Amino acid sequence: MIADFEQDNYAPWTAAGEAFGPGPAHGSLPGQMHVDGFRGKGLANSFVKGDDSTGSLTSPEIRIERKFIAFLIGGGKSDKLGLQLIVDGKIVRRATVPNDNPGGSESLALESWDVIEFAGKMATLRIVDEAKGSWGHINVDHITQTDTKPKGFVTDAERQLTATARYIHFPIKNGGAKRIVTLLVDGQQVVRNDIELADAAPDWWAPLDVSTWRGKTLTLRVDKLHEDSDAPKSIEQSDTLKDAENLYRESLRGQFHFSPQRGWNNDPNGCVFYNGEYHLFFQHNPYGWSWGNMHWGHAVSRDLVHWEELGDKLLPDDLGPMFSGSAVVDWKNTSGLGVDSKPPLVLFYTAAGDPTVQCMAYSTDGRTFTKYSGNPIVQQITGGNRDPKVIWHEPSQQWVMTLYVEWHQRHTIHFFTSKNLREWKLASISNGDAPGSGFLFECPDFFELPVDGDAARKKWVLLAANSSYAVGSFDGNHFLPDATRLPGHRGKGFYAAQSFSDVPDGRRILIGWWQTETRGMPFNQSMTIPLELKLVQTDDGPRITFSPVQELEVLRTRTHRPAVKSLKPGDKTPLDTINAELLEIRLEFEPGNADQLVFNIRGIAAAYDVAKQELNVAGHLAPAPLLNGKQNLIIYCDRTGLEVFASDGLCYTPMPQNMNPENNRLSIEARGGDIKVNSLEVHELRSAWRGR
Ligand code: FRU
Repeated sequence: MIADFEQDNYAPWTAAGEAFGPGPAHGSLPGQMHVDGFRGKGLANSFVKGDDSTGSLTSPEIRIERKFIAFLIGGGKSDKLGLQLIVDGKIVRRATVPNDNPGGSESLALESWDVIEFAGKMATLRIVDEAKGSWGHINVDHITQTDTKPKGFVTDAERQLTATARYIHFPIKNGGAKRIVTLLVDGQQVVRNDIELADAAPDWWAPLDVSTWRGKTLTLRVDKLHEDSDAPKSIEQSDTLKDAENLYRESLRGQFHFSPQRGWNNDPNGCVFYNGEYHLFFQHNPYGWSWGNMHWGHAVSRDLVHWEELGDKLLPDDLGPMFSGSAVVDWKNTSGLGVDSKPPLVLFYTAAGDPTVQCMAYSTDGRTFTKYSGNPIVQQITGGNRDPKVIWHEPSQQWVMTLYVEWHQRHTIHFFTSKNLREWKLASISNGDAPGSGFLFECPDFFELPVDGDAARKKWVLLAANSSYAVGSFDGNHFLPDATRLPGHRGKGFYAAQSFSDVPDGRRILIGWWQTETRGMPFNQSMTIPLELKLVQTDDGPRITFSPVQELEVLRTRTHRPAVKSLKPGDKTPLDTINAELLEIRLEFEPGNADQLVFNIRGIAAAYDVAKQELNVAGHLAPAPLLNGKQNLIIYCDRTGLEVFASDGLCYTPMPQNMNPENNRLSIEARGGDIKVNSLEVHELRSAWRGR
């Protein structure tokens, strides 16, 4: 044993600088991700005071007596970080670690050096942290001398196979070390991803569609693997997903909320109606349960309810991973990308490499997409510009792109205009006119809506990722807000929503990323139900309302209309004969002198406080004014949570929550007084995936 870092201090090693603190850490330090893979209680961890601190640890002189020096190591990848072996004043061995991107893993892994050539010599070991910023730290433990070569790593492990089926399947270990996995066809790299490859039994299998290379020889290359890893040999081929007997019936699968078959999703992207179908693209990590490897997944629907997933359409390339963006139908073929008078469907996305740039891809069949050869179409302005949302502005006969740009330490939206979708010029910059740093952070959406349905009174809405918004006017170049920093949704886990372009009946339909965490499933996160947006006049000015799209009614199977005209405290609940997992509940009531109306939906309480005019969904409070003395509630319940609408849609409260499968009970009660029930209906719903 050279060092096990089990003492209170580092002696007989000497510490310099601040990074390693006065003695070994016991696991993670404040602000650090979960550190594991070390032995015993202590380890050398240079995250003391965060990533920016620097320092070193130097061992006393040791004699090299064995053939190998083995150690556990983790942390960031940098020339400024590492474990060094110094013999005769020279660094003769150096070990570094793979993490250089946000995310990554804090697991220590076993590595070793062959030191036979230094047998009998004196040497020192040094752990160095001269690095600052992201991943500017190193973790080391359990340094030993040994004569048996420890199982080490192989670099660029390769496996060749002939593509005979639609998919190859990667074994995934959630939270495992990330490996760079590349696929080469005819010597060319065609796919590259960071994958938490399972060395042994996987948590789940991630499919990679290789049908375009059928019959060819595929070379899979993994940058670094444990010598005894099973990963390369366990990679299999087949025409269908693995372990898919239960697909869409998994215990935590939202039954009428879109989620990807496999992997992680975040933002909805490229929402558009084209050739009779709604297209929903989405930020997708096909090879991980957490965020990463951003692709654009793709699904279509004819009715906004039944979705068919079609595979990934935009894959990471030399310009970077595929971040969020939007889609339009180029009806007049201004881009010239149409073929045989078919208007092209054009996608706008962020290639989030360095620099970060805006790009375009197109299709004339809604199935195959080609990246535009003239990409990028908008160069980097400042680092991290992203999420282009493109719309057609009829009065000025031009395209308008809203783009999130961090500009002089402010969150701003840059407005660009174009006649042909290919060349863009900056028209104006808005920070929503909010004081301080603008609230307009990420994923802008921008659209016009009539106020109270009056086509002669239209207003523009500029929406940010957290769904706060500004209402104002727009002349094709400049947005002028009348009211700004208005709150959007009132719940939890709703983000980066996007509205559909080119909807034939002119409705403004929005779908949001719904942060439903589904641990133990081979997928994670989902989308909200599609929401129809309107602007209604309130005493404070025009405000957005959210309501479930009417199409969702096709999910109703059985309807209960209990004949109740009023609810009295202590009444037997009129809903207790209902036993259903998937629900749509609609209630209009006048609270009279009652204090509260309380729903219990499968164990989750949704209560309305009359005096406060406030909704409380699972402990989360949301203002919900009575309108003309009435309150209107619509509640959707899926396996992954509730979406509650109140005050005619002024209050939308999404609430991710994995529902208890054992509890299908429903109750409603009045507290403190009688409640007049104007209407009450409960619809049992069926799964939107049924009959696939
Ligand atoms: C919002 C976001 C976008 C970005 C995308 C990357 O959730 O951060 O700004 O384009 O996710 O996945």
